[in-house]
Amino acid sequence: MIALPPVIEGYPAMALLFHCEWEEGEAIREGLSRLLPDVEFRVWPDVGDPADIEFAVVWKLPHGRLAGFPNLKAILSPGAGVDHLFEDPALPEGVPIARLIDPLMAGRMAEYTAALTLWSHRKFDVYADLQSRRSWRQAPQKDAGDRRVGILGLGALGRATTRRLRPFGFALSGWSRTLKEEPGVTSRHGDDALADFLSESEILVCLLPLTPETRGLLGEEALGRLPRGAYLINCARGSLVVEADLLAALDSGRLSGAALDVFDEEPLPQDNPLWTHPKVRITPHVSSLTAPETAAPMLAAQVRRVQRGEALDRPVDRDAGY
Ligand code: NAP
Ligand code: GLV
Repeated sequence: MIALPPVIEGYPAMALLFHCEWEEGEAIREGLSRLLPDVEFRVWPDVGDPADIEFAVVWKLPHGRLAGFPNLKAILSPGAGVDHLFEDPALPEGVPIARLIDPLMAGRMAEYTAALTLWSHRKFDVYADLQSRRSWRQAPQKDAGDRRVGILGLGALGRATTRRLRPFGFALSGWSRTLKEEPGVTSRHGDDALADFLSESEILVCLLPLTPETRGLLGEEALGRLPRGAYLINCARGSLVVEADLLAALDSGRLSGAALDVFDEEPLPQDNPLWTHPKVRITPHVSSLTAPETAAPMLAAQVRRVQRGEALDRPVDRDAGY
C-alpha cells in the first residue's frame, strides 16, 4: 500500500474500505484512488484498524463486517443494486447509503433490453429453431404498435428502456410503486394494478430491485397472468423469479421464451436446467456492467460531499430498501 501524507487539501486522514471482485473492480479502485489521493485505501480483507474506516465502497462484502467499523460515515455500492447490502442482517443503522445512478449504465441496460425485445418481437428464436431443421417457413408477424411491452420498474433503468423502445413504436406499459409519468408509457402503480399490467404484457422486461416485497414476485400466479406465449426478459435479479415456476411456464407454453441475465445462484450452476433449455437465452450478468470511467468520479464525488459535511447525493431510501 502506498504511504500517503495524513492531510492533503485540509481534509483529516481517513481510510476507505474497498471490496469489489468484478473483472473491472481493480479499474474502479484505481480510478477512485487517483481522484482521492488523500484517502488511504484498504482493500478487503486487509482492513487494518477498523476505527480508521470512514467510507466503504463494497460489493457483496461478507455479511456482518460493516457492523465492525465504528466510524463509518457512508456506504457506497459500486453498482446500481443495494440488495447485497440490505441482505446483511447486521447492516449498521443510521449510516447513509448510496448507489450508482449512472446514465451510461442506463444506456447500456436500455441497449440490452431493446435488443432482446426486438429479438422476441421479430421471432429470431423461432427462426433459429427452423434453421436448425433446415425448414423454410414464414411465421406471421405483428407490427410493433400492436405489441405491448411491459416494464416492471420505472426507475433509472426502466425509464431508459422505455425511451430506447419508444422510437420503434411499441405499445409501452410500466409498473412502479408510486405513480410515474413517462411520455408514451401507460403507467400503473401499486400491487392492485399488477394483475392488469401483467395481463397485457406480451414482452415483460423486469427491472425491479430485489426487496422483501419483490422477491419471488414472478412466480406461478404472476406468470400465469401473462398473455399466452409471452416473453420474459429478466435483467434485474434472479430471485425476483421463482425458477421452478419459470421452467413450468416455459414447458407449458405460457411463455414462448425467456432471456435471463441474472440468476438465483451466480454463476449459474453447471447442472441448472436453464443452461440447456431450448427456449432460454442466457447471459452472465452483463446487461449493464459498471463502467469504471463514470463510476469512479461518481463515487469520489460522494466521498467529497460527506467530507464537506453534506448529505449524499440521492441516498438510498432505507425504509423502501432500494
Ligand atoms: P431504481 O431507480 O431504484 O428503480 C426501481 C423501480 O422499481 C422504481 O420504479 C420503483 O418504484 C420500482 N419498485 C420498487 N419496488 C417496487 C414494488 N414493490 N412494487 C412496484 N414497483 C417497485 O433502480 P434502477 O437503477 O432502475 O435498477 C433496478 C435494478 O436493476 C437494480 O436494483 C438492480 O438489481 C438491477 N441491475 C441489474 C444490472 C445487471 O447488469 N443485470 C445492472 C444494474 C442494475 P418507484 O419509482 O415508485 O420508486
Ligand atoms: C448490477 O447488477 C448492479 O446492480 O449494478
